[in-house]
Amino acid sequence: MSLKLDGRKLAKELEDRLQFEIASGLSKAGRPPGLAVIRVGEDPASGVYVSNKEKACARIGVASFGTHLPSTTPLPEVIQKIQALNANEKVDGILVQLPLPAGIDSTSLLMSIDPEKDADGLHTLNLGKLLKGESGPRSCTPAGIMALLSTNGISVEGKRAVVVGRSILVGQPMALMLQSANATVTVAHSKTKDLIDLTRQAELLVVAAGRPQIIGRDHVRSNAVVIDVGIHRLPCVGLEEQPQKPKLCGDVCFNEVASKVAAITPVPGGVGPMTVAMLLVNTVSRWQQHCGLSFNLGDLLP
Ligand code: GUN
Repeated sequence: MSLKLDGRKLAKELEDRLQFEIASGLSKAGRPPGLAVIRVGEDPASGVYVSNKEKACARIGVASFGTHLPSTTPLPEVIQKIQALNANEKVDGILVQLPLPAGIDSTSLLMSIDPEKDADGLHTLNLGKLLKGESGPRSCTPAGIMALLSTNGISVEGKRAVVVGRSILVGQPMALMLQSANATVTVAHSKTKDLIDLTRQAELLVVAAGRPQIIGRDHVRSNAVVIDVGIHRLPCVGLEEQPQKPKLCGDVCFNEVASKVAAITPVPGGVGPMTVAMLLVNTVSRWQQHCGLSFNLGDLLP
C-alpha cells in the first residue's frame, strides 16, 4: 500500500507553529499579522477558497482585511484598493484570488502589489527571486508541496521529476523549486505529444493540468511519488429529492494509481490544505520582517 501524503495533518502542525510564532512576537510587534484577500467577481470555487483562507487566518490570529468587488469593477478601481492596502501599516500580505473575470488583466493587478506584501509570491520580482535562488515570499501551492515531500522524508535530489502544467500559479514555480532542490525536471503541457511516455518515466510526478482524472494507472511508473494538484467536482449521481454532497476528484485517478505508487496525495486533503498553510507562512514571515522580529520560518520557504 502506498503512503498517503496527508496535507491536512501537516497544515495543522504548521498552523500550531505559526500560532506560537505570533504569540512570541505579538507584544514587540504591537499588532497581529494582517492579510488582505481580494476577490473580484463571482467565480464559485474562488468563494470557497477565499472563505477557507479567511477561516485559517481567524484560527491562528491573523487579522483579515479582505474585499469582495463586483466583476464590473474597473481595473483602476481595483488597483486603487491594492494601493490603499500597500499603504496600510496593519497589512503584511495581499493576495488577489485567481482567476479574475474576463477583461481584468491579472498581470497589472499582481504588479501593483507591493512586492514586500506579496502573500502569494506571484509578483514578477518575487518570481525572479525564486528563479535566482534569492529569498522572498514563495508561491503557495508549490512551496506547500515541497514541505509535504520533505516532512515525509522524500528527497527529490537526483530524481527524474515531471510537472504536468505550466501555469504561473503552480507549474512554473514548481519546476523551479524542484530544480533548485536538484531534481531533473521536465515540464509537460497541453501541447506536449505522447504525455504518457514522459509521465511513465517520472520518479516524481506533479500533476497540475486542471483536467479531471487525466492520469491513470498506465501513466505512472511503479513506486513513483505522485502529487495531485487538481480539484474538481464530480457530477452528483443521486435522486433529486436526496441531493448528495458533491464528490471531489483530482487530475489523477486516485483509485487506479494508489496501489501502484510509493506515495500519493489524496484529493481532498493533500495539496489543498498546504496551499492555505503556506499562505499563512508567507504572511507571518512578512509580519516578522515588517516588525523587526526574529525570522524563524526560512526552512519553509524553498
Ligand atoms: N486560485 C486558486 N489557487 C490560488 C492561489 O493559490 N492563489 C491565488 N491568488 N489564486 C488562486
